[in-house]
Amino acid sequence: MVGLYRALDERFGFHEGLMKVLKKPVPKFINLTHCFGGITFLLFGVQVISGILLAIYYKATPDKAYESVQYIVNEVPMGWLIRQVHAWGANLMIIAVMLHTFRILWHRAYRPPREFNWVVGSFLLFATMAFGFSGYLLPWDQLSYWATTVGTEMASSVPVIGPHLLTFMRGGATVDAPTLTRFYALHVLVLPVTTMALLGLHFLMVRRLGVAKPL
Ligand code: HEM
Repeated sequence: MVGLYRALDERFGFHEGLMKVLKKPVPKFINLTHCFGGITFLLFGVQVISGILLAIYYKATPDKAYESVQYIVNEVPMGWLIRQVHAWGANLMIIAVMLHTFRILWHRAYRPPREFNWVVGSFLLFATMAFGFSGYLLPWDQLSYWATTVGTEMASSVPVIGPHLLTFMRGGATVDAPTLTRFYALHVLVLPVTTMALLGLHFLMVRRLGVAKPL
């Protein structure tokens, strides 16, 4: 393993740059509350891996979605475990991102020069919620169908654009096949790509600005 690392470094010369990134001393005032951002990131990694495994068997059509989830749970080896990890991971990630946001508020880490990172973080918070909302429809059972019907209905109360927003989200007047396709595309493509880009920006700013000192 060490030999392979050396051989690759001789050819690509990444060791020095990598050490510069990794060897950053952590300030003395760091405490447990500073771990919430990292825990959120760890859970995001768990979601990506378990989500890829679920996507191998999941079928995003109204006639196959429910059946494919039952197949994952009952037939696929460890399928039940992967599904539970993904479902629990989703809830834990929402709790972790909220704790992280409270930590930022408590330490007033939203103040200059970190205000832009606060904005990026707000988008990340929105993306985390959107992950949960879009993923909830995918099992295509009674609970998920009616939760999405009620959830999307709320969008119609937005002034002026409400009815258009509702049709856009559902892909029609009611929750149906186009809604499932849209939510699936959002869940496995749009949100993961956007979240990864936002996280890159988020971490870059944390490294450049350092962690805010507690008050
Ligand atoms: C997927 C969601 C998110 C992940 C994975 C994430 C991850 C992280 C990590 C690892 C750090 C550095 C360690 C720490 O301070 O905890 C950090 C810092 C920060 N985060 Fe997040 N974050 C997320 C969402 C948010 C949200 C929702 C906000 C606020 C609206 C936010 C605002 C900030 C700010 C302002 C900092 C700098 C803190 C400082 O300098 O003390 N982040 N984030």
